[in-house]
Amino acid sequence: MGHVFDPQNRHRLKNEKRKKILPPEETVAKLPLNPGEVILDYGAGIGYFTVPLAKRTGSSGVVYAVDISPEIIKDLEEEVLKEGLTNVKTALVPGDGSLPEEFPEFDVIFLATVLHELSEKEAVLSALTQKLKKQGKLIIIDWEKKETEFGPPVAHRVSVEEAVSYLEKAGLKLLQKMNVSAAHWGIIGIKE
Ligand SMILES: C[S@@+](CC[C@H](N)C(=O)[O-])C[C@H]1O[C@@H](n2cnc3c(N)ncnc32)[C@H](O)[C@@H]1O
Repeated sequence: MGHVFDPQNRHRLKNEKRKKILPPEETVAKLPLNPGEVILDYGAGIGYFTVPLAKRTGSSGVVYAVDISPEIIKDLEEEVLKEGLTNVKTALVPGDGSLPEEFPEFDVIFLATVLHELSEKEAVLSALTQKLKKQGKLIIIDWEKKETEFGPPVAHRVSVEEAVSYLEKAGLKLLQKMNVSAAHWGIIGIKE
């Protein structure tokens, strides 16, 4: 069962505590990304990672930032405008991993602190994997399954081992495990 994020708490996605524990630019800098890539930020929230992802892929790339919440998408769009980014496209999605028909295939699909919220983790990851290019990467970051200063209840968190098994069930090969922060793991899978 997922622990669905309450859009009313969306300001928390950008607070100082979070910036300290999971700094967006530094975190994105650690990821194996290249300029010009087409990236999907699934469950993008208010754009905490969308912005550094868009800067990293640059004007020759695109970030498709999607979320299940209309209020959150509105804030995300404001953030993109405020940052003056022209390489971000946003969309509201139904939450089952399906995407607007016009969306392309992706070089990278990125989920940050979203996996633990999905009630149908396997189905969503499998649906998303269909939209990954061959040799494309799925990058997942989420909370360690242990007590931390803040964050979702431990019972709703996903261990890195469980996450790897979801990634493999979706047909991907584990490429790398990353220590993202003291409170977050990261995994990267590749579509062969
Ligand atoms: C904890 S927030 C993380 C947001 C962003 N990735 C970040 O790190 O700042 C989780 C986000 O996932 C979205 N979400 C939850 N379930 C979803 C689903 N099934 N499909 C798409 N987005 C979903 C929520 O609306 C929320 O914006």
